[in-house]
Amino acid sequence: MAELGHTVICADIDNKKIAMLKKGIMPIYELGLDELVEKNVENGRLSFTTNIGKAIKEAEVVFNAVGTPEDKKTGKADLQYVFAVAETFAQNLNNYKILVNKSTVPVGTADECHRRITKLAKANAQFDVVSNPEFLREGAAIKDFLNPDRVVVGVSSEQAKTLMEKIYRPIARSGRPVIVTDIRSAELIKYASNSFLATKISFINEIANFCELIGANVKEVARGMGADSRIGSRFLYAGTGYGGSCFPKDVQALIETGKEYDFDFQIVQAVDRVNDVQKMRPFEILKTEWKKSLKGKKVAVWGLSFKPRTDDVREAPAKGVIEALLKAGAKVVTYDPVAMESFAKAYSTMKIAYARSAYEALEGVDALLVMTEWDEFRTADLSLMNKAMKGNLIVDGRNIFERSETEEAGFKYYGIGV
Ligand code: UDX
Repeated sequence: MAELGHTVICADIDNKKIAMLKKGIMPIYELGLDELVEKNVENGRLSFTTNIGKAIKEAEVVFNAVGTPEDKKTGKADLQYVFAVAETFAQNLNNYKILVNKSTVPVGTADECHRRITKLAKANAQFDVVSNPEFLREGAAIKDFLNPDRVVVGVSSEQAKTLMEKIYRPIARSGRPVIVTDIRSAELIKYASNSFLATKISFINEIANFCELIGANVKEVARGMGADSRIGSRFLYAGTGYGGSCFPKDVQALIETGKEYDFDFQIVQAVDRVNDVQKMRPFEILKTEWKKSLKGKKVAVWGLSFKPRTDDVREAPAKGVIEALLKAGAKVVTYDPVAMESFAKAYSTMKIAYARSAYEALEGVDALLVMTEWDEFRTADLSLMNKAMKGNLIVDGRNIFERSETEEAGFKYYGIGV
């Protein structure tokens, strides 16, 4: 937002995070973010504070960007932080402002925020609640934010519409559509979009599993399908399923919201089921290969983050596979270019080794599992890999290698549907 020319105050209750940001240290890994923050702090458009009340009072528009984690018991989005922000907003309403829900929230949340603010704020308080879902991908967040396919804004008043259009004018000017809808439609667009993309992935994963039975190659099938512009080639990469902070949680939340209205989301439920099975494919392949006995086997796992170019390990397929390997009595050594620290922190009880390089992880192992398609894995030297390993098995959960090349280098190769 600062890069678009607006004056931005970032407020958080987490003192440590704000102190880090003030020093120019990013609390997450995101390509190019530190330079962008530094530039906008220097030109005076971006600042950080823990004084939330003051930040709200000084602002015309307040973006609510707190987390909405999945409540593991109910599968629903946990909205306590979203409502806490709405209440703080109400307590600091000194003139007309809008509260914009950026967080991914179920349909009806903006209305509930409106109700809570009305209850707390002064009788004549002037405000609007707006839904403005975010579609950026981790690892490409800056690019996606500044050059979005579209911006979606859900409003219930002309005043809010005008202000939001003003905020996104630089984006509209660069030819990107700013789609203004009613609030509930905007809220649903986010869930419908993510669930649709997840559907593409589960669909191609099912096709991949079928390819293995009939001797077809899913890469060729996806290329042939994707060339049809109605289908499109993106999100047709078969692998070990989707992870991350969005798809698994949003798919679940849509199913759960459906239930509240006695609505059965049949396709989305199947997408979720297919993904749960797909995440464990590499483990199942090893089990079949080693006739169920993994005891004493040593396995290298390349890739811990849920996808490349991020250190985010939330719902990463690597986690479930490593857990299963350990339970079956195998030893695990891992390597990831950026996510080892966050993995060790998130899953501190897992007894696994962390290697200093991709090749070091291979020393003396019986098999290699590729769980994340980092570029440095794609270009790895197959003969060096073979020398380092004791066994010759590669289970390529992201289809980064060519079967013929690995086989020529002496490996036994399993991909997903290839
Ligand atoms: C996603 C959405 O793309 C974004 O619009 C939304 O705002 C947040 O959720 P993100 O979670 O960062 O973004 O990752 P994305 O690049 O979409 O990938 C999600 C998962 O799907 C990853 O685990 C990835 O490995 C997997 N994936 C993606 C596939 O398995 N195959 C594909 O073809 C594409």
